[in-house]
Amino acid sequence: MDRIQRHFEEEADEFDGIILRLIPYYPEMLEALVSTLPFEASRPIRVTDLGCGTGTVAARVKAAFPNALVTCVDIAANMLEMAKKKLAGEPGVRFVQAGFNHFDFDAGQDAVVSSLALHHLVSDGDKRDFYRKIHDSLAPGGVFYNADVVLAANDGLQKTAMEKWKAFMLKSVSRDEIEGKWLPKYYEEDRPARLKDQLKWLEEIGFADVDVIWKTYNYAVYGGSKPEGRN
Ligand SMILES: C[S@@+](CC[C@H](N)C(=O)[O-])C[C@H]1O[C@@H](n2cnc3c(N)ncnc32)[C@H](O)[C@@H]1O
Repeated sequence: MDRIQRHFEEEADEFDGIILRLIPYYPEMLEALVSTLPFEASRPIRVTDLGCGTGTVAARVKAAFPNALVTCVDIAANMLEMAKKKLAGEPGVRFVQAGFNHFDFDAGQDAVVSSLALHHLVSDGDKRDFYRKIHDSLAPGGVFYNADVVLAANDGLQKTAMEKWKAFMLKSVSRDEIEGKWLPKYYEEDRPARLKDQLKWLEEIGFADVDVIWKTYNYAVYGGSKPEGRN
């Protein structure tokens, strides 16, 4: 088991409480992610949630699209157990324990979504390759949106983003915990990429209407669509 999987296996029980204290405007970010899906509410859209964790995004997708067929993917069994509890009784939801690099998408997805997970893909090349795989999995007219931690365009902007992030955490987390636990975890485990590079990769891969839907300092929701008529 690698370090990141172990982290989430151990944190699963407490995750929903922790994330609200660590991620600025987490509920608003997920609201932006889900409300941007351009489908009729009653459609049985096929959706994949990558790094579903405790199932918060999938639950929001099902609330907005009750007939959606949702595949929840995560490497950590304990996170999937929490997701199964959160989504208990929801029809049309399946759970797959897999690492991103070993997950085989079903073709014809209407939407691929992810929150706070794809930054765990290590290199820029890993992210680009995976974005291409996501593009290939989409039906024409399908969309990919990612809510994630990102890097700013230069060091000055990045420094400001980090200060703002720390200021947010300080509202409910002690300085010792931030500096002794959460920042070391960020530097050791997280591999965010520059947002502007990611937008470029998405366009190069063939996504249309690439855009940033929501952003506050180092957190953003962004993505694009697969043009109609393209397989
Ligand atoms: C910070 S949590 C986010 C969970 C959820 N999407 C949310 O926003 O609440 C990141 C999740 O990604 C999963 N994850 C990390 N790396 C992964 C990988 N390589 N393959 C699959 N899942 C991964 C973790 O197990 C964890 O559940």
